[in-house]
Amino acid sequence: MKVDVLLGLQWGDEGKGKVVDVLTPNYSAVARFQGGPNAGHTLEFEGQKYVLRSIPSGIFQGGKINVIGNGVVLDPLLFKEEAEALAASGHDITKQLYISKKAHLILPTHRILDRAYEAAKGSGKIGTTGKGIGPAYTDKVSRNGVRVGDLLRDFDTIYAAAKARHEAILKSLNFEYDITELEAKWFEALDYLKQFKLIDSEHFVNGLLKSGQNVLAEGAQGTMLDIDFGSYPFVTSSNTICAGCCTGLGVAPRNIGEVFGIFKAYCTRVGSGPFPTELFDETGDKIGQLGHEFGAVTGRKRRCGWIDLVALKYAVMLNGVTQLIMMKSDVLDTFETIKACVAYKIGGEEVTEFPYSIDGEVEPIYVELPGWKTDMTKMKSEDEFPEEFNAYLSFLEEELQVPIKIVSVGPDRQQTIIRYTEE
Ligand code: GDP
Ligand code: IMO
Ligand code: MG
Repeated sequence: MKVDVLLGLQWGDEGKGKVVDVLTPNYSAVARFQGGPNAGHTLEFEGQKYVLRSIPSGIFQGGKINVIGNGVVLDPLLFKEEAEALAASGHDITKQLYISKKAHLILPTHRILDRAYEAAKGSGKIGTTGKGIGPAYTDKVSRNGVRVGDLLRDFDTIYAAAKARHEAILKSLNFEYDITELEAKWFEALDYLKQFKLIDSEHFVNGLLKSGQNVLAEGAQGTMLDIDFGSYPFVTSSNTICAGCCTGLGVAPRNIGEVFGIFKAYCTRVGSGPFPTELFDETGDKIGQLGHEFGAVTGRKRRCGWIDLVALKYAVMLNGVTQLIMMKSDVLDTFETIKACVAYKIGGEEVTEFPYSIDGEVEPIYVELPGWKTDMTKMKSEDEFPEEFNAYLSFLEEELQVPIKIVSVGPDRQQTIIRYTEE
């Protein structure tokens, strides 16, 4: 069997959590392969709303196996809070969840370093989630990281060496901090972590495939936040694209099956960095309000704009997307017209291939399509789709050259329409 991958094609928050939950019944296991608690994946069902950060979004579907892969950076304290909140709502995940020993730990000082680096950047700050993601991945790549598997070794020595190094950096930055309380809670959380199944997840995942069980890999962030191909340096510190699934789970490229690329019917971004189709007018505000575009974890207002097909085509290419999933269509239900950016004008030149840099003056060139002006939130099948909505889908499929197989018309699990059901 293969690993199918579901990942974001924009700047994150496309609705990955919702769709992973919807697709989980088709799989034996769900696995996260990169990112950490910078993610906030929202699920809604039976009148309840849950936000997951490190725990995969397959956790609610009937005891399915969930894996936190080696490519993830894990903060034991935030993990404990997340797991305890689930337990309090009647979801004990201890039996279902497997954690890679090769996943790197986010230490208390990583969080402080994240803040210190951002402060040092001043107005050039990235607008990170402040969860220590960049510093933890930096330590991984510089071969100074602390891993989950170190819990089973001489942890105190390994931890003390990392902490001392971080303290020296913080001192050189003249950054004031006090981690006494945070560190005490963090160590309590480490003990909590030990009750979970800490495994060699590359063997585990490949073992599942060999024994005929399929796996859904859940991306975090989005392609435009990828460390290599995103709008650098305003990106996250991991490979969010499909290739990240191979390194983040230990799965060979030939064992990747379907690649589900997920996008919103429009576009959002949170934090700093270029965003060519961003709207600064009433239309942008309207999208933000109707789409409740506030961060799932941080509550930060998300910047809103029209769909960007130059960036989306790039994302489809980088990931080898085989099926598209369009989210939040309902947010555009009341619009007279809908715009889609098909090219950029940069320095007087029209560009359709995503360029090296989108910093500076980038003028989006739009195609305008008629809105459908119909409430789609209660629709159950594609047969009910208004003509203008079908035209929007066909236009996007033609541009992106990949079929849109799922359309989401609201936040609830049930507000999900699978297309081409006759096939
Ligand atoms: P993720 O990080 O990709 O999992 O996405 P987030 O959870 O951060 O953000 C998506 C937001 O949109 C959440 O609040 C979801 O409940 C909500 N959502 C998902 N799909 C839809 C949809 O089709 N329509 C509407 N209106 N909201 C949706
Ligand atoms: P999900 O998985 C949206 C953004 C931050 C910042 C940049 C770097 O919910 O889609 P980091 O803390 O990773 O160093 O921040 O990346 N960012 C996200 N934006 N959704 C996310 O995750 C994000 N995770 C990080 O806002 O601009
Ligand atoms: Mg999110």
